[in-house]
Amino acid sequence: ITTSVHANGLEYIEVNSKLCYARILLQGAQIDSFIPKGQAPLLWVSSADDYQPGNGIRGGIPVCWPWFGQHPNADWPQHGFARNRQWCHFSTEVQDEIVTLKLVLPLAAADRRFWPHNTRVELHCRFGQKLRISLVNINLDDHPVTLTQALHSYFSIGDIHQLIAKGFNGAHYIEFGAGPYVQTEDDVHFERETDRVYNGLGAVQQLHTPHGTIVVKREHSHSAVLWNPWVEKSRRLARFNDDDYLQMVCLEAANVLEDAVTLAPGERHELTTEISWQA
Ligand code: BG6
Repeated sequence: ITTSVHANGLEYIEVNSKLCYARILLQGAQIDSFIPKGQAPLLWVSSADDYQPGNGIRGGIPVCWPWFGQHPNADWPQHGFARNRQWCHFSTEVQDEIVTLKLVLPLAAADRRFWPHNTRVELHCRFGQKLRISLVNINLDDHPVTLTQALHSYFSIGDIHQLIAKGFNGAHYIEFGAGPYVQTEDDVHFERETDRVYNGLGAVQQLHTPHGTIVVKREHSHSAVLWNPWVEKSRRLARFNDDDYLQMVCLEAANVLEDAVTLAPGERHELTTEISWQA
């Protein structure tokens, strides 16, 4: 486990064990690499991103908190502010080659206008043969608080034309603000822009590539986002090459729409996802 500073000043922690290689930036508590030993990288990062301080990185796993998507106040940042802020690393545990890192987001006075509540938010990352991440919220306030959130995972999938996503059957989804629709086919293929919020979704999805399968499990989450920007939106996205959409897909463990989290005073919630590779 080593802590280093990127050329442009971003601090990161690297984990290099018998089970995996992983890297997490303190900015945004953003994991930008996870490679199970002997496998290819599971996470995707755009080569167009130059790792500037203050911006979430285009790839890896940005943390969307305490709201997902566009806020009703249109000038507030999309996907909340946590992905752009400096988090603090406060604990490291190693057991049987599995490394667990815990980070907390100190809420700055300037962020009180976005989030006036007294809550604690932590990210717990367990790096083994699998990657397990929990976004932990604890309400320390004297009133209920409601939030939406997502672990906005970008996966490296080789070729979007050959990707088949499975495990969505029977769930409702909203696409580009339209719907709700019901997912009737078991398989999702990608032939156009796909930007769906699924609700009432089962706990396991798979991304099948010709080389193997990425398995994504979710706990304390009934919603997930499935996103590929396709041709037109790729041209408009910041820190994204025009043809990047060919190699990535986002499948995001979430608590959004009717799956928003309301915490009573003293209550705790853990949005968890577990990511692994099956050859
Ligand atoms: C996805 C949304 O989760 O994030 C998309 O569903 C959005 O609509 C995408 O374009 C990327 O957002 P951003 O703010 O990182 O460019």
